[in-house]
Amino acid sequence: MKLGVAVSGKGSNLRNLLDRGFPVVAVVTNRPSCGGAEIARAHGISLGEFPQSRFASALERDVALRDFLLAHGVELLVCAGYDRIFTAPLFESFAGRILNIHPSLLPAFAGGMDAVEQALAAGVPRTGCTVHYVTEDVDAGPVILQAEVPVLPGDDSESLRARVQAREHEILPKAIEMASDAARAAIGQ
Ligand code: GRF
Repeated sequence: MKLGVAVSGKGSNLRNLLDRGFPVVAVVTNRPSCGGAEIARAHGISLGEFPQSRFASALERDVALRDFLLAHGVELLVCAGYDRIFTAPLFESFAGRILNIHPSLLPAFAGGMDAVEQALAAGVPRTGCTVHYVTEDVDAGPVILQAEVPVLPGDDSESLRARVQAREHEILPKAIEMASDAARAAIGQ
């Protein structure tokens, strides 16, 4: 399925998908100078820039973002470190076809951008990452895949994040394949 990827951060998940040959036809960002946006430019992938400051509301931003994805024929949308919450236009056009990767074992440490730090502060022995469908309930859509990692003595947020991200790079590609198969089956292809 043709993928759109939404990024706000360094873009290691986007890079991993490109290295593995996934058909990314469009990248969208709210942070035009982020690493993920640079990766899209370097690969010549069509990049849509939708910083909130250019729009009167989140709804207006998401109408433009949605229209950009549709114009590129995106069939499955992957949030890979995107730090805004989608509104109705995305759910109207991509219902059941939006995935997110979150750096915790959801439902633990949902709802923030600091799940790795929260896991460290909570002193849990294990954490991990989750790929789930995006619904209007933030970080609460159906889980597709999870992977666990240990929290080791002496870990700081950098070492723990690196361990979590290594697993993200394994499960996001698998989850995309699973979601693509499910979406194809749903439309009888
Ligand atoms: C990942 O840890 C993901 O779980 C979270 O944001 C981070 C993005 O990392 N939602 P990257 O930009 O793909 O390197």
